[in-house]
Amino acid sequence: MKEISKIVSGFKENIFSQMTNLANKYNAVNLSQGYPDFDGAGFALLSAKVNIDKGFNQTTNAIGCEELRMSIKKYIKRKYNLNYDHNTEITVTCGATEAMYDVISALVNPEDEVIVFEPFFDIYVPAILMNHGKVKTVTLHGPQFSFDKEELRRAFSEKTKLVIVNTPHNPTGHVFTKNELQIICDLVKEYDAYLVTDEVYEFLTYDNHVHIPPATLDGMRERTIMISSSGKTFGLTGWRTGWAITVPALSNAIRLVHQNNTFSGAHPLQKAIGESFEKLDEYLPDYRGMYLRKRDILFNGLTKLGYRPLKPEGTYFIMCPIRHMTQQSDIEFAKDLIINKKVATIPPSAFYINSNEGHDYIRFCFAKKDETLYQALENLSSL
Ligand SMILES: Cc1ncc(COP(=O)(O)O)c(C=O)c1O
Repeated sequence: MKEISKIVSGFKENIFSQMTNLANKYNAVNLSQGYPDFDGAGFALLSAKVNIDKGFNQTTNAIGCEELRMSIKKYIKRKYNLNYDHNTEITVTCGATEAMYDVISALVNPEDEVIVFEPFFDIYVPAILMNHGKVKTVTLHGPQFSFDKEELRRAFSEKTKLVIVNTPHNPTGHVFTKNELQIICDLVKEYDAYLVTDEVYEFLTYDNHVHIPPATLDGMRERTIMISSSGKTFGLTGWRTGWAITVPALSNAIRLVHQNNTFSGAHPLQKAIGESFEKLDEYLPDYRGMYLRKRDILFNGLTKLGYRPLKPEGTYFIMCPIRHMTQQSDIEFAKDLIINKKVATIPPSAFYINSNEGHDYIRFCFAKKDETLYQALENLSSL
């Protein structure tokens, strides 16, 4: 038999599946996978049922149903004062995951370079490699998880096509500051590159940290592709509904990939998310308050147990340094926690290519019922 794709044969089962399989085997509390163990927004669930009953069950417009594109246009205007046209500049995809793949496929030629910050969300690198691009990494150094300006400059070259920025950032919880974004955007402009932003945690920031969409910075609208999704905001990660927003010429290219890939997402769910955005403003304070409470349960609980968690500025993850507790690598430590303490976390070294810094942390996810978090803390306190 002829061999499978050389690129694909280099990929492995992702770290989330590995840790979840191990968690199931040892009956551990699973704080590894990054999605809630509780249901999403009730009004969205109801709206989906109504839209199914109303018969919106056939394939919708490839670029996404009109109501959803209109709602996205309205919230982007209301929250960020950015104007985008819902017919020519907003494309609905099957989650931010598909949006990222479509954007990379639409823009990257073989040998083009793509800059990613490590630790990175694990879908970026395979998508770049599948499109024959070259990955350049810049490390976000703990405990602040900021980058070195010179290291970033050195990553740029005439071949730089895209820079991918995820803010608020998974797994570190860092919310990029205006100053950090300005440095990135200035280089993007200097090298005539594009910026792809992964903003799926756009509404999940804490304390005084504010999410700034890079497209709002001077001169960036025309070279930014904003990606987000309903998964985190409405707690509906299984609905697989995301979007890519950018100028018409780039949107056209993205749409050509999308049309030949998934073509379109689930129609009644798109309608429901479109309707749910109408309730966004009244929903967000409770949403943020709930996650703030969960962050504090886990953060304070871990601190009491002698861990030294880093307080996340956004997202629903906590990075926790382990060097003061063990000489093991993050992977060995995370496996031991599953087997001996019955708590599953993520060893973040899987999210780095160049730096070894990932070996010094584990990542906890607190998008879990309070009782799940308390159970995890009780397990961790056991001998
Ligand atoms: C940083 C980041 N980007 C993208 C995604 C994927 O989003 P979606 O579920 O909409 O595909 C996730 C999900 O965990 C994420 O954490």
